[in-house]
Amino acid sequence: MNLALASRFSRRFDLASPIALAPMALASGGALAAACARAGTLGLVGGGYGDLAWTSREYGLAQELAGGTGRIGCGFIVWKLDQDASALDWVLERRPRAIMLSFGDPQRYAARIQASGAELIFQVQRLEELPRAVDAGATVVAVQGGEAGGHCVDSLNSRAIISFVPEAADWLAAHAPDTMLLAAGGIADGRTLAAARVLGADGALVGSRLWASAESLAAPGAKQQALATTGDGTARSRIFDVLRGKDWPQPYDFRCIRNDLHRRWEHRLPELLADPGPARAEYEAGLQAGDFTRAHATVGEAVGLINDLPTAADIVQRMTRQAQAILG
Ligand SMILES: Cc1cc2nc3c(=O)[nH]c(=O)nc-3n(C[C@H](O)[C@H](O)[C@H](O)COP(=O)(O)O)c2cc1C
Repeated sequence: MNLALASRFSRRFDLASPIALAPMALASGGALAAACARAGTLGLVGGGYGDLAWTSREYGLAQELAGGTGRIGCGFIVWKLDQDASALDWVLERRPRAIMLSFGDPQRYAARIQASGAELIFQVQRLEELPRAVDAGATVVAVQGGEAGGHCVDSLNSRAIISFVPEAADWLAAHAPDTMLLAAGGIADGRTLAAARVLGADGALVGSRLWASAESLAAPGAKQQALATTGDGTARSRIFDVLRGKDWPQPYDFRCIRNDLHRRWEHRLPELLADPGPARAEYEAGLQAGDFTRAHATVGEAVGLINDLPTAADIVQRMTRQAQAILG
């Protein structure tokens, strides 16, 4: 890796490229995390909602397939940990390299994560959350822009990555210069990876691009729909959280492909909330049938940069080579 692309983050985690796989719930399984670790990036399993059976199976697989790379960790959603943290405790006993937390207050879990020897990565959506990350002892902060796939804060509160990253880099330089910074949202090729470094990030948290890989657990039909969708084709709303019965607190909502079912409800949210039953049945039927005009495909605006479904190693090598050529 050339000097401009290498960073404190890549040196600290012994990476060939300054990339972490986003811990995407139900998509970043053991095979994808291990493929990323073997390709020289940080492989974070998507522990998401803290399901112990899923997390222990996929984390165990990641450890087995990654061999001794030492680049496996796991991510969790904090407001779900507040209900049940047994999956976090299970993972901590396996000495992960890092634990990434998002969407809540990390303080309650920081001491036990640090006691296990894992580094704490905390993902924030607004500048005002940075003190909370630093106070909890996070060694890495991921700043997530509203263009990201999956959950983020809603459009009243979300930031765009192009100005959020340099603003966060300036804040950290002034207040916590040893804390490393990752950019999250829209990073899917060598240009966007190089841009993250130029903007002052130590690396990138990559979700959508690695979701569209051979190893990801995303449904084949969802991946095919993503290939046919441009960056115009996603939207952020609460609709699929309501349809899935996921009780996300405000102000979080969710970016995915804006399919037919989404379009039907996007101006009628109060009506949907008042009587979600029939729409939920339609969503469930779509899911069972693998029909992604009704079931959801979770990707961000970066979907417009995704035109194939290669292995994770191919994606990482391509992004790294292109970023090196630009920065070199
Ligand atoms: C399918 C999918 C599932 C996600 N699940 C989680 C999750 O469980 N926990 C989390 O912290 N972030 C989750 N995210 C958000 C990522 O951590 C990250 O912020 C995002 O993927 C970065 O933007 P990008 O998708 O443009 O790369 C998810 C993203 C996607 C695409």
